[in-house]
Amino acid sequence: MTLNRRTVLKSAAAAAAVFNLAGSGRAAEAYHYALDIKPGMASLLEDGGARTAIWGFNGQVPGPTITARQGVPLKVAVTNRLQQPTTVHWHGIRIDNAMDGVSGLTQAPIEPGETFVYDFVPPDAGSFWYHSHHRSWEQQARGLYGPLIVEEAAPVGIDRDLVVMADDWRLRQDGAIDVASLGNVMDRAHGGRLGNVLTLNGKPYERLGVFRRERVRLRLINSANARIMAFRIAGVKPWLVALDGQPIAALEMGEAAVRLGPAQRADLVFDIHADAGSELVISEVSGAEPLVAGYLEVTEPEAAGRAVREGVPALPANQVPRPESAGARTVELFMSGGAMQFLQQAVFKGELLDGRTLARQHGQAWAFNGVVGTAAEPLFAAARNEHVIIRMRNDTRWPHAMHVHGFHFVELSRKPLSGWDYSLVPATSGSVAPLRDTVLMAPGEEVEIGFVADNPGSWLLHCHMTEHMAGGMVTWFEVAK
Ligand code: C2O
Ligand code: CU
Repeated sequence: MTLNRRTVLKSAAAAAAVFNLAGSGRAAEAYHYALDIKPGMASLLEDGGARTAIWGFNGQVPGPTITARQGVPLKVAVTNRLQQPTTVHWHGIRIDNAMDGVSGLTQAPIEPGETFVYDFVPPDAGSFWYHSHHRSWEQQARGLYGPLIVEEAAPVGIDRDLVVMADDWRLRQDGAIDVASLGNVMDRAHGGRLGNVLTLNGKPYERLGVFRRERVRLRLINSANARIMAFRIAGVKPWLVALDGQPIAALEMGEAAVRLGPAQRADLVFDIHADAGSELVISEVSGAEPLVAGYLEVTEPEAAGRAVREGVPALPANQVPRPESAGARTVELFMSGGAMQFLQQAVFKGELLDGRTLARQHGQAWAFNGVVGTAAEPLFAAARNEHVIIRMRNDTRWPHAMHVHGFHFVELSRKPLSGWDYSLVPATSGSVAPLRDTVLMAPGEEVEIGFVADNPGSWLLHCHMTEHMAGGMVTWFEVAK
């Protein structure tokens, strides 16, 4: 399904998602939030168009931006006001396992009417997000996600901090979410649920205000169920400064677009040189035709009373241990199934079934090491602090966005097929390999990732294309106490 724009209308809505963290200098003992998960309405189409019924945190989409600070406790009381159970996952946070929010693995689902208090200390500063982790293929598609920003302990030389959360929605002609197609077997076996309407921060044409001569940090988050997106901003020269919440040595992007698989994040920093009154177009460029997704509006001639920032931006590194290959445990993960190369047979809930039965009776289409979905036994059990290398081989005809809970990993090696390149940072850039929590894999690719198993508990490893996860691309591993 392709994204389309019936018209290139401009939204009149003012920039609501702008917030400015620079110099906020708050000292807090803990940050407290309360989130109600409930139905709401959103204007996903052009102004005056249909209002769309969604499910949202506090009834809005995206949910409110949760701002926390590195090393300071964060408590979020989540109340479920839906008719079905739910949980909340804090994507990318190297979190206490009991707070990871995986329904059925790290906690019982939050039943309708119940409240669950998530209480954890974010160890890393950066751009993260939260989303439902129960029936994600439905709950995330209906709007249950929001940004989670963990501030650095000290200011990082930024004048304006912006969040851009991108999603594609599959809407019917009347503007309602196409609910009938949620989680269907066709999407599961192909590229997942792809939408026909693109939004940034829940708006068809987001407008974000900036001042001339400001240094802007723009945090891009892909919250789509399955679409790989790519963004470009006209009239600025961005540095890429962080991936999946973890700082990298600033990389000049030039004309290159920033490609994000589902759940991936990228932080860009750029200076505004355009005159007041200018509009800098944010476009989505993954398809044949670039789409206008939103605008940066230069609203003031100058940022008053402040010198122009100079030099290359740099974010302080988080303290994340890096894996070493020598003596590491190596785990093989063979990814198979999906349309054009269907499973012949695989084990599902302890039973060996043929591909046809898996698809028709259970809606399952994918396997890791010949096993569909989470099994009773973990993929592997690591000792505390063991170095782990997972060698993932994508023996399918589809790309996948492989996500590890609880850890950031280093991409150690990649054997690509010609014509595909999902590595955003060139291996030749000379910088230390970035830490990531989600890695895009092209069809046929083999990628080795490594991390230090320093966080005990039961952790999920899955494709973040939510229909692929629902269709079997999910397993788990254990780290001993
Ligand atoms: Cu973003 Cu298993 O999740
Ligand atoms: Cu996938």
